[in-house]
Amino acid sequence: MLDKTRRGWWKSAVFYQIYPKSFLDSNGDGIGDIRGVIEKLDYLEKLGIDGIWLSPVCDSPQVDNGYDISDYRAVWPAFGSMEDMEALIREAKKRGISIIMDLVLNHTSHRHRWFQEALKGRENPCHDYYIWRDGEPDAPPNDMQAAFGGSMWTYVPDLKQYYFHQFAPQQPDLNWENPAVRRELYDMIRFWVDKGVEGFRLDVIDQIAKEPDRRITGNGPRLHQFLEELSREAFIEEGLVTVGEAWGADVERARRYSAQDGRELSMVFQFEHICLDQQPGGEKWDWIPLPLVSLKRCMERWQRGLHGQGWNSLFLNNHDLPRIVSRWGDDGKYRVESAKMLAAMLYGLEGTPYIYQGEELGMTNIRLPIEEYDDIEIQNLYTGRLSRGYREEDVMAAIYARGRDNARTPMQWSAEPYAGFSRVKPWLPVNPNYREINARAALEDPGSVFYFYQTLIALRKRYPVFREGEFTLLEPESEKLFVYTRETAEERLLVICNFTGESVPYQRPAEFAGAWLLLGNYGTAAETLRPYEAQMFYGRKQA
Ligand code: GLC
Ligand code: CA
Repeated sequence: MLDKTRRGWWKSAVFYQIYPKSFLDSNGDGIGDIRGVIEKLDYLEKLGIDGIWLSPVCDSPQVDNGYDISDYRAVWPAFGSMEDMEALIREAKKRGISIIMDLVLNHTSHRHRWFQEALKGRENPCHDYYIWRDGEPDAPPNDMQAAFGGSMWTYVPDLKQYYFHQFAPQQPDLNWENPAVRRELYDMIRFWVDKGVEGFRLDVIDQIAKEPDRRITGNGPRLHQFLEELSREAFIEEGLVTVGEAWGADVERARRYSAQDGRELSMVFQFEHICLDQQPGGEKWDWIPLPLVSLKRCMERWQRGLHGQGWNSLFLNNHDLPRIVSRWGDDGKYRVESAKMLAAMLYGLEGTPYIYQGEELGMTNIRLPIEEYDDIEIQNLYTGRLSRGYREEDVMAAIYARGRDNARTPMQWSAEPYAGFSRVKPWLPVNPNYREINARAALEDPGSVFYFYQTLIALRKRYPVFREGEFTLLEPESEKLFVYTRETAEERLLVICNFTGESVPYQRPAEFAGAWLLLGNYGTAAETLRPYEAQMFYGRKQA
């Protein structure tokens, strides 16, 4: 167990993201719940994780699956009760697992009491909790487009005003310029810290300091000021870990967010690597095959850029992204090999890794008829693109490749009906491959992706080079291999990953001649790398 009283304990930690709606349904209503998470704590302990990032469980009309909160201090009844949350925090702690809550501070649900009050009139004290502009119908203040399609402005005829929302109209943006809003949010955070929560993931945190009149959404001028205040007022607790979702972060910005003086955040989720397989100027739906050389350059920039000056988060998956084996690996013949290779590539790096539920099983993307998708983003894309003249098959292909429901299908626990996720038909279909890909099968197979993750997690704790080693990229121009080293004064690590389904020869650098194979996804290491082979070599330097 990690000693969490130590400063920066989270640098040695591995976190596991749970999307509760899809994790485990304990009471047979087809929806995952908090009791379901408690039931699987032993499984997570076995994997070796130190904390759970729990996607939002607060009360919500679920327009965006809980990222639209109507009451920050209550649990959505389908997920359970406040007692269940308290039990989860307690039971997790017993196993050395911290609960990290998801904080949605940029916006609330339109059903939140503040917004309902705000609608009552301009004189209402809550009116200024949101962002309003006077106007006439059909003439929004500007033409900014919301993340899920449509305008960022919605008109309220009774008030003759538009309110601002970067996401769905049911997710009005909070007005961070108003000190009363910030105070409410800090108090709410303290409420959860008092319950024993040990950290937070901050939803779209670089979008809180918006200035809509200047068309600024991300990285607004007052962002760092707000973050410093937030950290001072709400996160002062020693040892709280904070990770901000920052789509707009580049290395320089991330250095400031995660500068290790505790002024802002512990680390951020940046998305540069995730956006590389996207057509320049296109949207995420307009994808291209992964340019491996750019991925390596990108990782190098982040590894070197934050070394000693900030801290990286490491991830390939979350509830908004397609499954990584289907994306950068091979979800057919080499599913197991490629899932392990991608893990080795990531877990050899400096930073704090995040596993998304099912990633440790090598879960894959799904294809559904359009009416079976739940995600608001998918549904809006479909109608939006069809109305703009796109061909249906192209739109569906984009959804198969990039849709968020790929990540949200129920967790595959066993080969029983509905994958052991629920006794009844789940809220979103189970991937038909659950008979083969499931946790029970993985636990019975010593060669499974699960045990590979378990080993990687254990290795990271055992050898300081994983935490401190300096990164060097080798073979930068190779379009097939991703090779890098990590080095401290005493240790060296070499990570070799074959990103293709072909055999690729590779000669290890001389200084690794005496090194030993710490881990490989084919057991022994050969000089010619087999399809999707990954090898990790470790050596001690002579004194
Ligand atoms: C974040 C969440 C995503 C959500 C959005 C709006 O990007 O990860 O799921 O839809 O914010 O809250
Ligand atoms: Ca349930």
